[in-house]
Amino acid sequence: MSSSMQYQPASNQHDQYRPEWVREDFVDFIAEKFNPVWAWKKVKATIIKSRAIGQDFYQIQLRPNRNFKQQQFKAGQSILVTVDIAGVRQQRSYSVVKFLANGDMIIAVKQQGKVSNVLTQLAFGSIVELSQAQGEFILDNSSEPLLLLASGSGITAIYSILLEALQPSKRPIDLIYFTRDEAFHADLEQLHQQHVQFNYHYINTVARKQHLTAELLEGLVPDFQQRQSFACGANAMMQSLNQIFQDLNISAQLKQEYFQIAVDESLEVQPIIFLRSQQTFEAKSNLLESAEQAGLKPTHGCRMGICNTCTCTKVSGSTKNMLTGEIDHGSNTQIKLCISQAVSPVTINL
Ligand code: FES
Repeated sequence: MSSSMQYQPASNQHDQYRPEWVREDFVDFIAEKFNPVWAWKKVKATIIKSRAIGQDFYQIQLRPNRNFKQQQFKAGQSILVTVDIAGVRQQRSYSVVKFLANGDMIIAVKQQGKVSNVLTQLAFGSIVELSQAQGEFILDNSSEPLLLLASGSGITAIYSILLEALQPSKRPIDLIYFTRDEAFHADLEQLHQQHVQFNYHYINTVARKQHLTAELLEGLVPDFQQRQSFACGANAMMQSLNQIFQDLNISAQLKQEYFQIAVDESLEVQPIIFLRSQQTFEAKSNLLESAEQAGLKPTHGCRMGICNTCTCTKVSGSTKNMLTGEIDHGSNTQIKLCISQAVSPVTINL
């Protein structure tokens, strides 16, 4: 019995061996010669159109190749866009606003950071690489009334969720949108005219210095405590919102996504050890950025805590989750480098 069980794994290993007769990069190299968007497995997309929708804010229409699985997309999810900048592949995550009937994808890009700057300046017909859609910032099957909150470019994910939520039901939906410009405003007004269950609260923060407060929420959406809530926006709004929900003990009703990650300036510089590669460096900002500043190249994707690519094991030390503020003192716990800040000396199994 024991000898036959010992034999089995060897056989399985043999079964699993698949020689790589054809290399993907070679196929892609040849395919590209015929059509730059062709690839065996990679998702690539052609830039079809780009137009300004606000100050430094662009809507870009992308036509993905057949490797993109649109049917798996859920409203609120994002994609990673990879561009080549001076010979280095750089990625950034963008929420998908919607898909057109022909399968083209619309994203909205604020001209902030290296990738966004390049992306908004690429000529029509240029090719970029995409990931499949990813992220957990999505609706569930509930038909409870909804509260949606957005500020700045956070409107892209919220707009996508709104379109989805308006489709099947008559559930009441309120959207509070803080913005300095008119991006999406006309479309949202139109949706408000078309759907009686949708209330739209537009707050132009240039015309009116208004921040999110409990009083404002109560005034605009009196039953907000009984609603399922989704929020995506700048740090100031997200922090106020989290405080309001914590004070009312209703944080469990809130789903949130960040597009900015705030560094806690009060934390001191800490020594970090990457154990397996035997590297040490000092960290003040997030661990991914600090490692890169020290010349290291940890694997990463979105840099926003969405894709899990940078997840690794913290062997010891304490880190702060820059999205939730939670401090992790545990040993051998999983952290994401891109949203972790060191609170003490930290050792990581990398
Ligand atoms: S790079 Fe995507 S979660 Fe850290």
